[in-house]
Amino acid sequence: MKKILMVCLGNICRSPLAEGILQSKVHSEKIVVDSAGTAAYHIGNTPDERSIAVAKKYGIDISSQKARKFCISDFEDFDTIYAMDESNYQNILSLCSNPQDVAKVKMILNEINPKANQSVPDPYYGGDEGFENVFKMLDQACTIIAENL
Ligand code: 4NP
Repeated sequence: MKKILMVCLGNICRSPLAEGILQSKVHSEKIVVDSAGTAAYHIGNTPDERSIAVAKKYGIDISSQKARKFCISDFEDFDTIYAMDESNYQNILSLCSNPQDVAKVKMILNEINPKANQSVPDPYYGGDEGFENVFKMLDQACTIIAENL
């Protein structure tokens, strides 16, 4: 069983898309994909309607996901933890208690451009095109992640 966690700030825009996209590319019950946010603002909420819409456009249903906050036990429960941006990455690292935890945390776009440490831009305050752009970036990254599983 391989368990992958996608993490952003609110767990309503980027990481729900990353979860849905990767889940759509893996066809094995041995892979578990989940997502969480480093902030508590949106706990229990369904994804942003713009994320739901862009996923639906590409045939992926993320409408039943519910936001939750990242927690310390996620280091035990998951094998790989993908941060969407540099700020998420630093927030997750600040909660690590040992080198094994640190080794699990990765910047998701490093799957496309290794070591470039690029961030998935936060689309929350922008328009629909930002969500389309995020979808395309995450689709590329998740294709690579799925190929390497
Ligand atoms: P996410 O986007 O981190 O991709 O889910 C955001 C969602 C909500 C907020 C910020 C970013 N917020 O400030 O409420």
